[in-house]
Amino acid sequence: MSSKADRRQARRAKAAERQKRRASLGWVLAISVFLASAYFVWTESRPAEPLAEAETIALGQQVYAQNCLSCHGFEGEGHADLIQAPALDETEHAWHHPDGQLQELLTNGGTLMPAFGDELTDEEIVAVIRYIQTWWTADQIASQQQASQSYPFRQPTED
Ligand code: HEC
Repeated sequence: MSSKADRRQARRAKAAERQKRRASLGWVLAISVFLASAYFVWTESRPAEPLAEAETIALGQQVYAQNCLSCHGFEGEGHADLIQAPALDETEHAWHHPDGQLQELLTNGGTLMPAFGDELTDEEIVAVIRYIQTWWTADQIASQQQASQSYPFRQPTED
């Protein structure tokens, strides 16, 4: 037979157990909310899979460092204040141009944008475009690749 004290102790133990269960439920909820919002942020801003092999991206990075970085910045952030060179990353308009149009611009130049057709091979021009595309979001890549179907690279990677 249990005494009053024993029963009180049992009740307290049960209450503590409930308290613990409630606390861990709180944690599960908090972690779920955190994961859900982290997933949302990740899918919104996740970078796309590169559109080319690692070798091509590496070549593009080298071409970029030697020919483009001085105007367009280390990571394509642009130098709007200095030479009016736009950002090439996800923040401005570069991703609105289909592949073929980018190739055309790089080959023949723009108003202030120099022409690289004499200095760079088609392979290098395609590689540097594939490289700058690694700065775009998955959504931008998807829409740009859709547009590129009717305006693709003039030639594939060989020169
Ligand atoms: C002398 C500075 C300069 C250099 C070097 C340069 N650019 Fe540009 N680029 C510009 C300017 C300025 C523009 C804006 C369009 C214009 O004035 O022709 C531009 C425009 C562009 C655009 C179009 C952006 C848009 O939002 O429409 C792309 C893409 C681009 N450049 C890529 C490159 C790449 C890749 C290289 C290296 C191979 C390069 N640029 C080298 C100055 C430069």
